[in-house]
Amino acid sequence: MKAVVTGGAGFIGSHLCDHLIAHGHEVVALDDLSTGSRSNLDQLMDDPAFTLVTGSILDQGLVGDVVAECDTVFHLAAAVGVHTIVDHPLESLHTNLHGTENVVAAAAARGARFLIASTSEVYGKNDADGLTEEADRVLGSPLKSRWSYAAAKGLDELVGYVYARQSGLPCVITRFFNIVGPRQSGRYGMVVPRFVDQALAGEPITVYGDGDQRRCFGSVSDVVPAVVRLMDTPGAYGTAVNLGGAEEVTIRGLAERVIALTGSTSTIRHVSYADAYGEGYEDMRRRMPDTTRARDLIGYTPRHRLDDVIRAIVDARRSTPAGAPLATA
Ligand SMILES: NC(=O)c1ccc[n+]([C@@H]2O[C@H](COP(=O)([O-])OP(=O)(O)OC[C@H]3O[C@@H](n4cnc5c(N)ncnc54)[C@H](O)[C@@H]3O)[C@@H](O)[C@H]2O)c1
Repeated sequence: MKAVVTGGAGFIGSHLCDHLIAHGHEVVALDDLSTGSRSNLDQLMDDPAFTLVTGSILDQGLVGDVVAECDTVFHLAAAVGVHTIVDHPLESLHTNLHGTENVVAAAAARGARFLIASTSEVYGKNDADGLTEEADRVLGSPLKSRWSYAAAKGLDELVGYVYARQSGLPCVITRFFNIVGPRQSGRYGMVVPRFVDQALAGEPITVYGDGDQRRCFGSVSDVVPAVVRLMDTPGAYGTAVNLGGAEEVTIRGLAERVIALTGSTSTIRHVSYADAYGEGYEDMRRRMPDTTRARDLIGYTPRHRLDDVIRAIVDARRSTPAGAPLATA
């Protein structure tokens, strides 16, 4: 495989690059290093099968040049994290809409296989017990910028889906549910690395809202091989596939686990959503994936338990040199 990974310097993208290189593929990572980091790819820099191109998916010419040499495109580049989306709504929309259009058009022109990283956010406030891929979307008002990420990712899915239907593009849409692991940054609103950093610093762990909201965290070590297998599975083309974990936890319960696993003296402090994200922020009470489709297509079963993933994140944080940017974990 000659693969392009957009967002290859990011959390999931860098693990995907590691996996592809370890399995003998050639990889070009395209990343503007906005939320990603070159140091996430340090281990690959001397490998002749790996190239990092620093640039934006908004640069149509660059995207065309990079994709022209490949047969497979994993499109992970996006503006992510609640803080990024709420603080930079226009730039985020631009990246998540026009950037994706550029990448999918280049993949289609090249005849390359294409995977788009979508999100459980597309389900919005639907808190059903096990969200299937056909579940309804329940989004708040488009006037609340908090929903712009979900709206843009939904449109991205549609673009990929329509390319698949209309021009036969081999396109897989993966919907990630709260994926966690080493190298994820806590800077942009991701809860697990934020809690781990607070616990290691002995600071209060700040839980937004009442803490009874429930999530199901998936391990990057489960998701990355699944992404590659889905790309090799024609039955996955032209459809969406949920990928995530199986273990549900409240956010307060997550904070307690992080405290226990780090041996921290941190306390838990509740912060209102308004104080965290500004007035009018809406959260969902529950988000739980149904991963039956992934199991049927590729035998997907999440194997990594949340405690083990938290331990791996803690170990990575502890080995980060003092003063290194948090994004590099
Ligand atoms: N981590 C999760 O739980 C999760 C959940 C749902 C969906 N996703 C999706 O998975 C993908 C990867 O997310 P992640 O968690 O690894 O986040 P991340 O921020 O670590 O990765 C995103 C990468 O995209 C890069 N990027 C942003 N704008 C760019 C641009 N204009 N041009 C080139 N590169 C650009 C960033 O520098 C970063 O390296 C994203 O598409 C995200 O929407 C992630």
